[in-house]
Amino acid sequence: MPHQIALRFEDGLTRFIEANPNETVADAAYRQGVNIPLDCRDGACGTCKCHAESGKYEMGEYIEDALSEDEAARGYVLTCQMRARGNCVVQVPASSAVCRTQRAVLEAAVGEVRQLSPSTISLTLRDESLGKLAFLPGQYVNLQVPGTDQTRAYSFSSLVREGGEVSFLIRNVPGGLMSGFLTGQARPGDRMTLTGPLGSFYLREIERPLLLLAGGTGLAPFTAMLEKIAAEGSPHPLHLVYGVTTDADLVEMDRLEDFAARIPNFTFAACVASPESAWPRKGYVTHHIEPAHLYDGEVDVYLCGPPPMVEAVSRFIRECGVKPASFHYEKFAASA
Ligand SMILES: Cc1cc2nc3c(=O)[nH]c(=O)nc-3n(C[C@H](O)[C@H](O)[C@H](O)COP(=O)(O)OP(=O)(O)OC[C@H]3O[C@@H](n4cnc5c(N)ncnc54)[C@H](O)[C@@H]3O)c2cc1C
Ligand code: FES
Repeated sequence: MPHQIALRFEDGLTRFIEANPNETVADAAYRQGVNIPLDCRDGACGTCKCHAESGKYEMGEYIEDALSEDEAARGYVLTCQMRARGNCVVQVPASSAVCRTQRAVLEAAVGEVRQLSPSTISLTLRDESLGKLAFLPGQYVNLQVPGTDQTRAYSFSSLVREGGEVSFLIRNVPGGLMSGFLTGQARPGDRMTLTGPLGSFYLREIERPLLLLAGGTGLAPFTAMLEKIAAEGSPHPLHLVYGVTTDADLVEMDRLEDFAARIPNFTFAACVASPESAWPRKGYVTHHIEPAHLYDGEVDVYLCGPPPMVEAVSRFIRECGVKPASFHYEKFAASA
């Protein structure tokens, strides 16, 4: 017998779907025209994470980076692995409009591959058709590694510019498939396939102060968000803490200075964890979050970076005794 699932979207809309016992909630939603953000469909990426407010269900297989033990204990689920065993209420961390967005498959040419530092690459792709990619700043696409059937997820680090140009900020992982292509073979004009936009980590309406927390190339979605804020303004203060491991990982500082000059109520602090660093501000992101940045909970927090960083910062926020009005995060989990 099918079970009834109430999907509650963050804009307040609720949609009822029916899920068969052997069908995942994500498959049932798609069958009935609701595109819950999805990527791997395999319990590996965490893109489909939602909160089960009530009801009985079983989870299939998944990895800890996609859903931690603590999250599962607090009722978070991966809808690509969730099978209902009764009627359920599931809160989807995206708007109903985003859940009806179809993903597009587009081709674009490599414009520029620039090594910003030994550990970080800036990639620019160009094609008139990219202007049609209706992504929200913070979302990502899957980029196919040319000559292979493999894809890697990358967050847009810019909005679409004149002529259909977008940028990405990419960690150079030694021995990595995409890293190897970008540092070895990639040439301007090479064609790359993008699938997206994907993900529920995107800038919401700014209704209160924002605290943006970035680890390494987890800065990418924030530079896209800041481009939008620079163009439209913000009635509320915004503070970014950007943490990296070594001095070589610290990139895009000119761009952040430029945002600070253009957005009147934007401030940022960049810190380096390595004790050998020559950078004056040392330590982890958590060392530079001050009580004043949390506004006694009247704040929206956005967090992005490698899984261990996202987990450490999430724990810090949970344990500091202040519950933010909203908390959004993206883990840059390895695809391999
Ligand atoms: C939603 C999402 C958005 C993402 N956005 C970005 C982004 O904007 N910028 C970005 O740089 N990355 C991003 N990533 C990570 C990215 O998709 C790739 O995993 C990463 O770039 C490595 O790809 P690669 O092909 O070079 O290495 P792979 O061939 O995938 O990996 C080679 C080896 O290195 C390991 N490895 C992979 N990544 C790391 C790492 N960071 N540190 C240490 N070891 C690693 C792998 O486990 C594997 O053993 C995102 C991931 C997700 C899930
Ligand atoms: S889509 Fe469910 S974990 Fe990736």
